[in-house]
Amino acid sequence: MSTSSTPLTERTTWKALEEHYQKTHELHLRRLFAEDPQRGEHFALEAVGLYLDYSKNRLTTETLKLLLELAETSGLRERIEAMFGGEKINVTEKRAVLHVALRTPKGTSIVVEGENVVPEVHAVLDKMADFANRVRSGEWRGYTGKPIRNVVNIGIGGSDLGPVMAYEALKYYSDRNLTVRFVSNIDGTDFVEATHDLDAAETLFIISSKTFTTLETMTNARSARQWCLQTLGDDQAVAKHFVAVSTNAQEVTKFGIDTTNMFGFWDWVGGRYSYDSAIGLSLMLAIGPDHYHEMLAGFHAMDEHFRTAPFERNLPVLLALIGLWYNNFYGAETVAILPYDHYLGKFSAYLQQLDMESNGKHVNLEGNPVNYQTGPIIWGQPGTNGQHAFYQLIHQGTKLIPCDFIGFCQSLNPIGVHHDLLMANLFAQTEALAFGKTAEEVKADGVPDFQIQHRVFEGNRPTNTILATRLTPETLGKLVALYEHKVFVQGTIWNINSFDQWGVELGKVLAGQIVPELQGTTDSKFAQDSSTNTLIERYRQIRNATS
Ligand code: F6P
Repeated sequence: MSTSSTPLTERTTWKALEEHYQKTHELHLRRLFAEDPQRGEHFALEAVGLYLDYSKNRLTTETLKLLLELAETSGLRERIEAMFGGEKINVTEKRAVLHVALRTPKGTSIVVEGENVVPEVHAVLDKMADFANRVRSGEWRGYTGKPIRNVVNIGIGGSDLGPVMAYEALKYYSDRNLTVRFVSNIDGTDFVEATHDLDAAETLFIISSKTFTTLETMTNARSARQWCLQTLGDDQAVAKHFVAVSTNAQEVTKFGIDTTNMFGFWDWVGGRYSYDSAIGLSLMLAIGPDHYHEMLAGFHAMDEHFRTAPFERNLPVLLALIGLWYNNFYGAETVAILPYDHYLGKFSAYLQQLDMESNGKHVNLEGNPVNYQTGPIIWGQPGTNGQHAFYQLIHQGTKLIPCDFIGFCQSLNPIGVHHDLLMANLFAQTEALAFGKTAEEVKADGVPDFQIQHRVFEGNRPTNTILATRLTPETLGKLVALYEHKVFVQGTIWNINSFDQWGVELGKVLAGQIVPELQGTTDSKFAQDSSTNTLIERYRQIRNATS
């Protein structure tokens, strides 16, 4: 059997999967369910409190066998151990990848460069908890002596998407006396709208940036300081109204935040894997340290499951392999994430960065172009809103869109029949997507002939369903870790570096060149291409026009 040293598409298992695809891709889920009346139970897995039904996928036991073989021959076991063992698997940045250390219980050991990092992690968690308790209890006061009622997190990408997603997801558990907002966009509107009704004397800004150099965040942070000082008038106020979360103490000091008010993390935490580091401070302020620790326990439970469960009973591995099946053999370009819980409104946006920044890569670990598809496009909206917007295309369009449906058996807000109706819709969608409706069935409903073809549902559209009991902090931790590890498994099989993001650099450099051209502070004629130069010229002409 050829292994990870053989290029992916030349491996025996890859070729066997190609052949298998040719033989099976026309198989309909209707037939697969008819042939195995217990398929719904056979192709399901429960682990760490999450139930995954993957029966409504276009696969057989043979498909799974081959996919699992692919995982084995990709060196996945060794890669998992390498990640958990603190090896520098982020080879282009020469960094370990240890978000799993952020949720490791006290007393355990994960060694990076000869040092156990777990005590440091818990020291920061304790410092966060102490601070959160002081703010929440009113002991920490603003410059004028008023308690803090508003928390504004300023950050972008991984320093925003995780905290804002988790804050929304866990709002039910949050202190409703605190107003918590998130500013990320460099568009001044974001800052202005987030602060227009806030009293600076009662507002705490958390400047969250791993590097503390990100243009958007630093620009918003400077505007926040100005906004604060406009009301409070004294530079001394900064110490009471600004804290920083960063790995860069030097830049934090330069900005004027005392490092006693800084919460650190480490270069072995990638931005998009960082919300359970100190980057989650805004979340901890909202939900309190106890709930935060419950969330970490959820992450850790999934980490342990991922590390120890056999691949055929391993939730992240199965999700990854199923995704890869559609991505690389069916040519599916996207994956829809469809949570049937209003609190998970930002979950797919969060997964967009997690997955697309990690696996949107065109070269392999050795720097050679890949000859296969890597990361999919991730998108989605919470149910049932999406049903009245884009589900038409999923049901009857020409594209294959594998979907993950996520639902909870108990509502946090059980009023009337809402939850049964919500869940009925979730189940109905997966059923309709899988089984569709034939022309005969449509005709039997008495539909006029001219409409029949328009009302046919081909079905055979694949879905996973993930069910949990309730949306708790612990469950959220499990769900996020599930997708983190799914992304890791796929990246491992594709032999790419899921932990760098060089693709965001070029735009930043060009923006840096264009700023002085827009501001007229450069003498040289615009140095861009003719399209960009014309746009710049036009912008400059119109920007200051009075009418
Ligand atoms: O967009 C690139 C990126 O580096 C992300 O990976 C990161 O999450 C984001 O910018 C923010 O970076 P920082 O936390 O350093 O401000």
